[in-house]
Amino acid sequence: MASQADRHALYERAVQDPARDVRFFSRIYRKLRGHDALSLREDFCGTAALCHAWAESMPERTALGIDLCQETMDWGWRRRIEPAGQEVAGRISLVRADVREIKRPKVDLACALNFSYFCFKTRAELVEYFRVVRAGLGRDGLFFLDLLGGTESMCEGVTEHDHGDFVYRWEQARFNVINHDFLCYIHFDFPDGSRLSKAFTYEWRLWTPVELRELLVEAGFSKVHFFWEKTDADGEGTGVFYEPSYVENQEIWWTYMAAEA
Ligand SMILES: C[S@@+](CC[C@H](N)C(=O)[O-])C[C@H]1O[C@@H](n2cnc3c(N)ncnc32)[C@H](O)[C@@H]1O
Repeated sequence: MASQADRHALYERAVQDPARDVRFFSRIYRKLRGHDALSLREDFCGTAALCHAWAESMPERTALGIDLCQETMDWGWRRRIEPAGQEVAGRISLVRADVREIKRPKVDLACALNFSYFCFKTRAELVEYFRVVRAGLGRDGLFFLDLLGGTESMCEGVTEHDHGDFVYRWEQARFNVINHDFLCYIHFDFPDGSRLSKAFTYEWRLWTPVELRELLVEAGFSKVHFFWEKTDADGEGTGVFYEPSYVENQEIWWTYMAAEA
């Protein structure tokens, strides 16, 4: 099963929920800006699943995806964007580039998801990237990032999620307390005992909320919002987010930030 598996398809099922992202971004943009966001820039777009969901969500919406990996973008174009038809595909552009090279066209909303900006390991590199994103936003622009943290995010270990026809394994192989270097792998295990080992490798720095807020402000963003998901009586996420001023640390948490241009 591992030899026949498609790692991009498994990745999308295991870690992405573009429909949720589009709903959340649309709601927050409308709340903060009083009108709909129409143009999206998806940095580190990979298969551009979000570009596709964005363009599908409204006929006026356009999406620009940027990634260094042509093969991954081609997969997304062939598998999802082209089959959506010319009316949708015609509103999506995918560009092979370093995200720090692209400042135009200006967009309403930019995003960097699944912690991809963790690839920038120094303050200087991350601020430079944030400056580029800000320069590429229109007057009412918003930049969304997601982030993870919690006591277990700074430890080595493996978490698993069973999707029925495969098990997704997230391995934090090495975490360096001194500089927050963070080496992670995604593996996929199959019911026949076969395994797609190290399907994806990430050499990152784990940034903290307070650092990110400071660096976004340093890059010129006027205001930074942190969102937190409300949980139900069993501690499960409800999909409803609010802006807290105090959050007690947990073993692991994941959330969104938004920065105003
Ligand atoms: C964790 S994946 C993110 C995929 C998708 N956006 C998501 O939310 O799941 C990181 C992607 O960033 C791309 N990447 C890494 N460094 C980059 C850079 N400097 N500029 C553009 N893309 C980059 C990689 O090719 C990879 O596709």
